[in-house]
Amino acid sequence: MKHPVRLERRHGRALIAIENPPVNALGHAVRLGILAAFEVALHDDAVSSIILAANGHTFPAGADINEFDMPARAPSLPELCDIIEASPKPVIAALHGMVLGGGLELAMAAHYRIAHPGTQMGLPEIKLGLLPGAGGTQRAPRLMPVRDALDLMLTGDPIPAKRAQQLGLIDGIAEGDLRETVMMLAPELDQPRATRYLRHHLSDGVDFMAATSAARVGLKEDAEASKWIIECVEAALLVPFDAALQMEQEAFADCLASEASIGLRYAFFAERLAQKFPELKGVDATPVESVSIVGEGLISIAITIACLNCGLPVTLVSPGEAGVTLALDRIGDFYEREAQAGRITQTQGAGRLSKLNLTTDMGAVRQSDLIIESVSANVTLRETVLRKMGQIAKPSAVLCANRSDQEPGALAALTGRPAQSLALHFFAPTNSLNLVEIGVTDDVAPKAVGAALQLAKRMGKRPLRCQSRPGLVGDRMLSAYLDAADAFLLKGASPNQVDTAMRVYGMPQGPYEMQDRASVDLIQAKRLARAAPVLLLPSRMVQAGCVGRRVGQGYYKYHQAGHATPNEEVMHLLVAERREKRIDVAPSSASEIQNGLIAALINAGAALLEDGTAQTPGDIDTAMVHGMGFPREKGGPMYQANRVGAFEILRGLEHMQKAGPVFCEIASLLRKKAAERESFTK
Ligand code: 3HC
Repeated sequence: MKHPVRLERRHGRALIAIENPPVNALGHAVRLGILAAFEVALHDDAVSSIILAANGHTFPAGADINEFDMPARAPSLPELCDIIEASPKPVIAALHGMVLGGGLELAMAAHYRIAHPGTQMGLPEIKLGLLPGAGGTQRAPRLMPVRDALDLMLTGDPIPAKRAQQLGLIDGIAEGDLRETVMMLAPELDQPRATRYLRHHLSDGVDFMAATSAARVGLKEDAEASKWIIECVEAALLVPFDAALQMEQEAFADCLASEASIGLRYAFFAERLAQKFPELKGVDATPVESVSIVGEGLISIAITIACLNCGLPVTLVSPGEAGVTLALDRIGDFYEREAQAGRITQTQGAGRLSKLNLTTDMGAVRQSDLIIESVSANVTLRETVLRKMGQIAKPSAVLCANRSDQEPGALAALTGRPAQSLALHFFAPTNSLNLVEIGVTDDVAPKAVGAALQLAKRMGKRPLRCQSRPGLVGDRMLSAYLDAADAFLLKGASPNQVDTAMRVYGMPQGPYEMQDRASVDLIQAKRLARAAPVLLLPSRMVQAGCVGRRVGQGYYKYHQAGHATPNEEVMHLLVAERREKRIDVAPSSASEIQNGLIAALINAGAALLEDGTAQTPGDIDTAMVHGMGFPREKGGPMYQANRVGAFEILRGLEHMQKAGPVFCEIASLLRKKAAERESFTK
């Protein structure tokens, strides 16, 4: 293995450069390398100051998360930070890229920090269920105001170099060549300055304590890492530095072993694995420099905005003049609001709008690199549009359908271009859910898949590759989830009871609240058809126009004051259906509901793996976390299957179905995993 740390001596200074691609994570070999280089530099009389820098596209983006499940090896990152801070020669960190977690902690232990203008700095440990564990909770509040230090740790969101400089986290921004500038500056920074002795931000104890008390307000009972961050920051004021560091390390070890952190770390790697598209290795994706969207309604508008926001010229073809007017109003309003909120400037908004071509003329898509069909549920119109796309698009164009319900090959049959036709399914609401499914068949050319992948990434979405089958991954999982929820309703639970149970589990909303929000009819259209639906209630509600928030009533009634109450009329319909079906009503506990719905998701996931629709269990989990709001700290349903064991899941499902009603067909892969006591692995 190439040595991950290099030492150079120039003009009486030592440059320690970390080189551990892709993100220069501070694994054991890197820590050893830094320590060795550091000792050489310290003992070299010709060296007056030491510069810590990194090669590649970033200063270390953190500790090596892969090592969190391994036994600790010296020097630990906190030890290394202490050694650097205690250096009798000044140490300057030259920062670029994403300076995150342990990377920022290393920089904070240096005596000075100079950053490239594009650098982002953050302490994202909270997103892994952790607190900074290499002195971050102690050094951040010594370098910057306590409220900002708490914010950095409690949100986990990075801040840009300019803000970091305003706050005092860094000492300067180097406009030109970072290393050259730092080399030139080094003589000015000729005194060691240990962060641990800085007292300025600790001087007003009352204000400091007010900030930590304010940070505690509204914390959830189970927010362990957040609580520890606040405790440790408070210790920065109240306890000697080394004792507070010790406290931080003990808390870090506790959080590391917590279920929440283990689940979040699993989700971190699953998300990254889901972005890997095996067929794209060595493939040049079809470049996408222009996009057309054919469709009307909010989803087409949201996709258009997402494309405009990443700088692409967009043609939006609406079937009628009314659609053009609506789109123009909505998109114009959107940029107006963005500018008013200060998220963009008026000029930026105008610039993005200038790249929009709104028309009713389908011929306008002719020159686009990628075309997305996103018309309404009108099947004839949709098929006409797809045929037309196939006829008029330029030969290299990638043709996409924003749908999940296509039979494999159906899309290609309409466009007549099997190598370039794929599903590009945006989860709704498109502006808040960031999942995009890319549904492919074996006929689709890798360069077309690559084009869809790149577009999704450029839009800041999370792409998920799956085989094109009705429902893809997301809607098949959604259908299974709702079928199980409906089974509990039929057995005697109320929508409110099911919703509450799932919110307590950690879902952002329950299945019935979610349907009311999205509109019951739209969700019905997404659900996979069953020969005998578990519950007729949803289709009866659609027939009665009782489709949710949009019309003021669905499973709940929505009052003007903004609150919602259970809809008694829907309850009457439900009771009537139970009577028709001669159901013996029995109570279900919250945990029975939670276990039942999660088991249904696991079973659907097993079926998706079995028929090859999904590539890996991690893909399914990623789809659930980012498409349905499954609590990230619980990893996802397939992760839960491995925790609980396939045998237990199967036993639970069989027990529930025996008591009736039957709401799913048990996947043979689940049976196999249960019989062989195996887990669902990558
Ligand atoms: N440890 C190990 N591997 C890491 C890593 C880390 N801290 N950060 C990223 N990687 C790996 C990814 O797994 C991925 O590997 P792969 O190519 O084999 O799948 C590769 O680096 C590239 O990562 P991304 O695909 O995420 O690349 P991006 O360019 O999109 O994003 C990033 C780069 C913003 C740095 C993003 O990777 C990220 O946010 N990383 C996590 C940062 C983090 O959480 N740091 C804190 C770690 S905990 C810590 O430091 C504890 C300390 O307080 C003691």
